[in-house]
Amino acid sequence: KKRVVSGVQPTGSIHLGNYLGAIKNWIPLQNTYDTLFFIVDLHAITLPYETQQLSRATRDTAAIYLACGVDTSKASIFVQSHVRAHAELMWLLSSATPIGWLNKMIQFKEKSRKAGDENVAVALLTYPVLMASDILLYQSDFVPVGEDQKQHLELTRELAERVNYLYGGRKLKKLGGRGGAIFKVPEPLIPPAGARVMSLTDGLSKMSKSAPSDLSRINLLDSKDVIANKIKRCKTDSLSGLEFDNPERPECNNLLSVYQLISGKTKEIRYEEIISDSAYLDRVLAEGSKRAADIADATLNNVYQAMGFLRR
Ligand code: TYM
Repeated sequence: KKRVVSGVQPTGSIHLGNYLGAIKNWIPLQNTYDTLFFIVDLHAITLPYETQQLSRATRDTAAIYLACGVDTSKASIFVQSHVRAHAELMWLLSSATPIGWLNKMIQFKEKSRKAGDENVAVALLTYPVLMASDILLYQSDFVPVGEDQKQHLELTRELAERVNYLYGGRKLKKLGGRGGAIFKVPEPLIPPAGARVMSLTDGLSKMSKSAPSDLSRINLLDSKDVIANKIKRCKTDSLSGLEFDNPERPECNNLLSVYQLISGKTKEIRYEEIISDSAYLDRVLAEGSKRAADIADATLNNVYQAMGFLRR
């Protein structure tokens, strides 16, 4: 079976952009592919964050996956930091990553500009290497993400090819390995609509967990009243009527796209039930990380061997 992996950061609130751009598209894939969905808590510490809120946000995100329809009889859900191979492979991969590749990442440039010099951690720069580890550890075929992750996926593909070139092939066979490629080169799956849900208050910026105003996004856990209020207060324009794809009317285009994607869909509200059953959630995450670690460790051992380390 071909494999699919994806993840969301447990930072702030999961919003409609995360849902329409990513989580919603994971659901049908569960039926055809071997699917693993993780909560990327190690990525969430790359910008200043509240330690008291990280574990809560991690559980919330897992409960949201389940509420959105991730089915644990088909897919595994786990927490990135619970599978140690992610951080470990990242170190190995970072030795094969030219720093210039990281310097040109659009998200790094944007986030570091907003954070100000004092708050730009090394981890913000090396973030895409960790993301590449998340994907390459599982020999993934497809990665369903929103538009903003496209560049990170391209870096992942280039890095996989580079490691295969540097350490794979005959070199690996000589060392007693199976030869051939170390990593599978994954393909992104970016949805045609919903890949970039825009802010409610600025049609030219994407809806974002880190935007200061909560009015700029619809969170999956917002109540009906809060959502209605946000929609009433969101930015529109002075032209009459509605139209798609008019560059002069980005907010109008965004609202119509969201409506198109959401209308006619009633999502079962399972979140409250799930988050209050902590034993169930713990079980799901423990089973998920056990299964993930088995796959990840096999890849990691292979990489250590290919790179010439002494076997344990
Ligand atoms: P994150 O947590 O910022 O976003 C999670 C997913 O939501 C998508 N997304 C959007 N889609 C449409 N419109 C928007 N306004 C919008 N905002 C966010 C993102 O594209 C993403 O698919 N680095 C990743 C998490 C990650 C990951 C991975 C993903 C870490 N390792 C491995 C896939 C595979 C991130 O920060 O996503």
